[in-house]
Amino acid sequence: MDYATAIEDIKAIIFTADIAEATQRVVDYLYDHVDKYNWVGIYIVEGTNLVLGPWRGKQATEHMKIPMGRGICGSAAQTGKTEIVSDVSNDERYLACFISTRSEIVVPIKKTGQVIGEIDIDSDIPNAFDQNDTDFLETIAELLSSYMS
Ligand code: SME
Repeated sequence: MDYATAIEDIKAIIFTADIAEATQRVVDYLYDHVDKYNWVGIYIVEGTNLVLGPWRGKQATEHMKIPMGRGICGSAAQTGKTEIVSDVSNDERYLACFISTRSEIVVPIKKTGQVIGEIDIDSDIPNAFDQNDTDFLETIAELLSSYMS
């Protein structure tokens, strides 16, 4: 998948849908267009927790609510920095969801410097994520942020 084209498609999705629908459609787009993205979800900050919003994948996760600071998701929310875990079996913060997951990326969605949510993607491929994914997903996080309160 060409990420530059994907950004244009995602802009069109965000600008034509209301935000509840837009977040689900962005999740669907990422899941459907990038083979190595095997589970895609958006968590929303609610108080001191991250609460799962729209998601796509073969299975639901048991981690519907993650306290700030727990797991890869909670770490990224606390620091406000993108986390790439190239081998989830080697990271003691990792909260397991799916037996097939090998690597993970979590990208905070920020508004005026505050983390309001995040994009969480699992891959069944080891070391699936690099700087291209970071740049791509941080751009999407920024686009989503301007439509989220
Ligand atoms: N693995 C995440 C939990 C969420 S699932 O990947 C859907 C973590 O360690 O925070």
